[in-house]
Amino acid sequence: MRVILLGPPGSGKGTQGGMIEKEYGFPRISTGDLLRNAVKKQTPLGKKVEGVMNKGELVSDEIVVEIVRERIDEPDCGNGYVLDGFPRNTGQASALKKMDPGRTETVLDIHLDDEIVIERLSARRVCLGCGKPYNLLLGDSKEMDRCKKCGGKLVGREDDRPDVIRERLKVYHQESEPLVNFYRKKGVYHEVEGDRPILTVFENIQVILNKKLENVSGRAEA
Ligand code: AP5
Repeated sequence: MRVILLGPPGSGKGTQGGMIEKEYGFPRISTGDLLRNAVKKQTPLGKKVEGVMNKGELVSDEIVVEIVRERIDEPDCGNGYVLDGFPRNTGQASALKKMDPGRTETVLDIHLDDEIVIERLSARRVCLGCGKPYNLLLGDSKEMDRCKKCGGKLVGREDDRPDVIRERLKVYHQESEPLVNFYRKKGVYHEVEGDRPILTVFENIQVILNKKLENVSGRAEA
């Protein structure tokens, strides 16, 4: 099974993707994390994409498609995987279909209004050491400036500045929203309300995934 997480910046794709990985054992593949790691290490790829990411624009299809192709070829993806942040446009969606055809697909589109996105992302903090995310709106204190897990410094993400968040939202509406129709037509699309407590969002996702997995195993037994 391939789970695809769609939704605007800050809708909870990373959070829910991590929970799906833990519960179902499908590795989470976040193109954003893979690219940010390359930037952090200042690899040739990282140097190439840093400016684009900091402006809130999309990295070229050529680059992200190759990153995903390499990652899903790894043995841990044999039974399935969760894609967080990919595909981002219909070109990437078509490339995905070609690179791993015939796999059962479930698309979860986490809905969140733009105003809430801006509020949430302005309150996000990330550990510079281990990457653990925090959010001031979720009770993580404003005074806290060190990670509870590794003691690393907590900072705002470079692309979580209000002007960049607005650009990311614009790009999302223009480039990624057409994926709704793309996947609706294939009958694999499900919308999930993202403006709920994290556990409630996950429970709603579980209902969809459990049903899908039952259907898949039912078909395999028949
Ligand atoms: P990426 O890292 O994918 O960023 P994004 O899609 O903008 O998503 P975010 O990571 O900001 O949010 P999220 O939806 O994962 O929410 P999260 O769970 O973190 O991409 C970054 C950049 O990389 C792009 O702009 C682009 O440049 C490039 N890129 C990546 N993929 C690409 C591609 N395929 N093609 C081209 N370029 C690509 O949660 C956000 C915050 O909210 C956290 O603080 C969290 O604690 C909190 N939160 C989560 N759920 C809830 C909830 N239910 N209630 C309250 N708070 C919540």
